[in-house]
Parts: sequence; structure tokens; C-alpha cells
Amino acid sequence: MDVKIERTDLRMICDEAEQLAGSTREHRRRIHACPELSFEERATADYVISVLEAEGIACRRIAGTGVLARIEGRGELRRAVVLRADMDALPIEERSDLPFASQNRGVMHACGHDMHTAALLGALTLLNRRRTELQGTLFGLFQPGEELCPGGASMVLKEHPFEGYDVIAMIGEHVDPDLPTGVFGFRAGKYMASSDELRITVMGEGGHGAMPDRLHDPVVAAAAVITALQQVVSRNADSRMPTVLSIGRVVADGATNVIPDRVLMEGTLRTFDETWRAEAKRRVHEIAEHTAAAYGTTAEVAVSDGYPCVVNDPRLTDCAERLIASMFGSEHTVRLELRPTAEDFGYYTQVYPSLFYRLGVGGSDPVAKPVGKLHTATFAPDEEALSYAVAALSSLTLQLLRCPDK
Ligand code: NI
Repeated sequence: MDVKIERTDLRMICDEAEQLAGSTREHRRRIHACPELSFEERATADYVISVLEAEGIACRRIAGTGVLARIEGRGELRRAVVLRADMDALPIEERSDLPFASQNRGVMHACGHDMHTAALLGALTLLNRRRTELQGTLFGLFQPGEELCPGGASMVLKEHPFEGYDVIAMIGEHVDPDLPTGVFGFRAGKYMASSDELRITVMGEGGHGAMPDRLHDPVVAAAAVITALQQVVSRNADSRMPTVLSIGRVVADGATNVIPDRVLMEGTLRTFDETWRAEAKRRVHEIAEHTAAAYGTTAEVAVSDGYPCVVNDPRLTDCAERLIASMFGSEHTVRLELRPTAEDFGYYTQVYPSLFYRLGVGGSDPVAKPVGKLHTATFAPDEEALSYAVAALSSLTLQLLRCPDK
């Protein structure tokens, strides 16, 4: 897809984003100072609504503590683009001396969702002022609960907010401290992993550790189950399909001379393909149950479905990559590797043509002068990235909603 926005117009969009830099930074600091946990984003939602209302942008509540903004352009209003930002914070005690550090003890925006929310407010402000150029409808989705299963995205979709619309693009971004500020990361196709939680209980018959021949030892059986489960990765997975199966919690709770009745195990299963994911879960059941049986014990397997894979639409990804390159130069885009973490944005990618990209927030030299890591108490993303984010979201929306042929 060719870039259809004139160079002079791209420059104007950058200028407009720059003019909004002060207010966008203010939004980010206000939200950063009052972080709220997943599905508790009440003050954040109230703040978002107050900003949208001051700009004359229509909005309503969605998925409990979420907010859905709507900007109508001209022409065929069924065509819709959705820009999505997540709003929740993490249970981490902030360790920074920033003047706008968290005022909510034990809660912190350590994953940059404050940046996402502020950037979306900035982009909606910019695009609302240009709404007559939009041929269709623009939605701004301020989503709750990305960090906590079942994920706000699944709750949003259950409400069918885009019924009657033809969503031509669902777009989300995430900060990346490993990329310098001003650099954007893209990956077409499979990008982030699915994530499922495994809980396996091996039940036998415990007793005196000195007389195992009279028992059905679930500890030895559980050890065999853990080892056998690695077959899912080494023997069942297509060797070209990255798959991770990790057991991170094992509770036997006997004693030096006591074999317990049961052993509990918990772990995670991650991969990058939905068909294989379903098959892998079946194999976990079979291997655990049959291995346990071979040891005279039984296994109860519970797999709770986590987030699906994030799969980017190749056409949208290409469009965004070219647009960023023509706006800032090709040195401002990088290709991303597969990422074994999960993101509830995956739910949208199953339904709509979608794009999830990375926004560099690492300052000018992330290696020499790091801004901290995601999900840590000292994470401090570079706020200069906000203008880049606003310009990117705005130009991408204009590219998609200006030209009827997409
Ligand atoms: Ni995050």
C-alpha cells in the first residue's frame, strides 16, 4: 500500500503533534501519579472522559472501567478504524524520585500504559480537529485490565461495540525501552505468543517414606510427568514453531520421612499458532494422565485459557512501516523478533485486521543510558516518545480513513 499522504501534510501532522506535546505530557503525568490496578481504572477513566469532553469528543463507558470514544468523519461511516490503548497499572512499589511518581502505594505504571493512554488522548485531539478529512468513523478504545486474565480485550469484544461497522484496522502500540526514542518496531504475521496456564495435580497414596513399596508415590510420578511433558516441545511441536512449556511451581509438602498423597504443579504453555496451541493442550492432558497412570497414580489436568497469539495483518504492517519511514526516515523503523510474552490484544487480531507495534522509549542511547526495564520499580520511559506516538497514530488513521480504497 503506497503512502498517500503528502510530505508537507506529514510534516504538518508532526508539527501538530509537537504543539500538543505539553498537554500530552501533562496527561501522562496525571495518569502516572494515580495508577490503578486492572479493572479498577475508575479515576483514570474519569480523567480520560474529562479530557475527551473538553475536546467535544463523544464517549461512553465500556467493559466496566473502560472508555470508548467516537469521532465521526464524513461519507461512509460504517468504515471504522479503532485505536486502542490499555490503562491499567501493576502491583509494584515505584522507586523513583520523579515529581509525578505514584501516589498510590504499591501500584505503579511500570508497563507504560500511562504513555499509551496519553498518546491516544493526544491523537484523538489531533484527529478530532481534522475530522472532516476522515471518510469513516474513528474509535478510541481505552481498554481496562490488560495485565490480568481474562483480559479487558475479551470483555470489550463480548459487548460487540463495533457491530454494524466494518473495522478496517485495529491498531495498538506498546512502549519498548530497548528501542531508542523515535524508533518504531514492526513485525508482520505472528508476533506475540499465546499463553495458557497449566495446573496439574498428581494423586497417589502417601505414607512412610521408608516403605514406598506399600504406597503409590505421587512425588516420583510428578517428577516423571514434568520430564515427560517436555516431549510436547521436543517431539510434538513442529521444529519451526517456537513452543515453551515451563513448570514453575511444584508443591509436594511431605517431609523427610513422609510421602504426601498429592503433588500440585503449575506452569505455562506458550506458542505462536492457534491450531498447534489446541493440539499442544491435548498432548499435555494425554502425557500427564498416562505418565501418572504408569506410576499407579492419577493426574488431574486443568488448563486455563490465557491470551491468544498476536498476529499482525501483513498489509497493515507494511502500510505503517512505509508511513513511518516516509515521515521520519527508514532508520526509524526496525523489524521485531518473535516475542514469547503475551498481550490481550491477541483477541482483537483474531477478529479484525490488526496491527500491534512497538514504540521506542529508550531515550537516545538505551544501552549506555537505560531507562529501566518493563515491569520494574525504576522504569522511566522517555516522554519525548509521546509526540512520535501521537504523530504515528494520527498519520496512520488519516492514511486509512482518507482514501476509500484503503
Ligand atoms: Ni503492557
